[in-house]
Amino acid sequence: MRKKILVEASGRINLIGEHVDYNGGSVLPASIDKKIIIEFHSVSGEECNIKSKTLDKRFKINLNKISKSKIQWQNYIIGVLYNLITLKKLKIEAFNCKIESNLPIGAGISSSSALICGIASGINQLNNLKLTNDEIIDIVSDVEHNFIGLMGGIMDQFTIVNGKKNKLILLNCQNRSFKYINSDFNNYKFLLINTNVEHNLANSAYNDRVKECSEALIIINKKYKKYNCLVEVEENILNEFKSVLTKKVYNRALFVIQENKRTHDSANKISKSKLTEFGELMYESHYGLKNLYEVSCKELDFLVEFTSNYKEIIGSRMMGGGFGGCTINLIEEKFVNDFVDLISKAYLDKFGIKLNAFTVNIDNGITIKNINEF
Ligand code: GLA
Repeated sequence: MRKKILVEASGRINLIGEHVDYNGGSVLPASIDKKIIIEFHSVSGEECNIKSKTLDKRFKINLNKISKSKIQWQNYIIGVLYNLITLKKLKIEAFNCKIESNLPIGAGISSSSALICGIASGINQLNNLKLTNDEIIDIVSDVEHNFIGLMGGIMDQFTIVNGKKNKLILLNCQNRSFKYINSDFNNYKFLLINTNVEHNLANSAYNDRVKECSEALIIINKKYKKYNCLVEVEENILNEFKSVLTKKVYNRALFVIQENKRTHDSANKISKSKLTEFGELMYESHYGLKNLYEVSCKELDFLVEFTSNYKEIIGSRMMGGGFGGCTINLIEEKFVNDFVDLISKAYLDKFGIKLNAFTVNIDNGITIKNINEF
């Protein structure tokens, strides 16, 4: 019997806790109501037809001949098949799928993890593989590391797989323990503002940050031999190494340790409805990402700085990997339209680029519907 299913995989926001996931730190993300929608049909034979309506591109892949493609977007799908069939030796039925999306690409809201999670979850369902959420998270990491070349942490895929409507996730990325926190922001909304720039070398600059953090940990552990990850190092211990580490590596480590603390402080403030204090932590996070971690860019900095003129915005910072993409802003709902007009004009005047701005709601991460069997 042929099956037809519809998978919706959401993007994610991250309220705070940037670049700490691969350092064993804690993050505060949520899945959102912007999604990739993938329709799967099982078919006979060995050949899968994959069509992206968003990119207006398609390709075929034979399940007996899986190898990396030179065309990057194809690897998001091929990587999952390689993991399941070649590495895990699982038996998969051929399928056709059609991918559509209202999730902006390259905006730092995780369209790539959403696509990989959606593909893995759909194949899981079609073939009744009974993969657990943790297994899907590991598959997505494997594809990102080995097929896409981004040595990312687990924040994005964890959030997409476990995200729930109206819940933030306070996630410890070292041991994957987590708790849901009610997302109650009164009359404030999350407004994402997309710079519509994606600077070159973002992947390699990201991977450099991963290496610099691991270098800091190795040097500190030569003396202390006890830290499993960078966020376990206390700031006073790091300071003992200030003259041993290069300034750059010291700054990276300092940011990570401070940002991890900000995540916990933020969860605490949000659960006590101290939103203004949480907003201040968002600004601190941005300035750390800009000055110590050096993953911001002039367009993101402009958007964050512009918000400081308006009391209706209580927090703003760059979000995700950086070097372009979005800022996340906590803004009074009734001011959204006026503010979008103001900032769009100022940004166009400054950079000659049109931005996109949209509010997001917190929604379920993955949903799968059986459409019918035929
Ligand atoms: C990207 C990565 C995540 C995380 C963020 C920065 O989105 O995929 O794992 O490291 O950057 O917080």
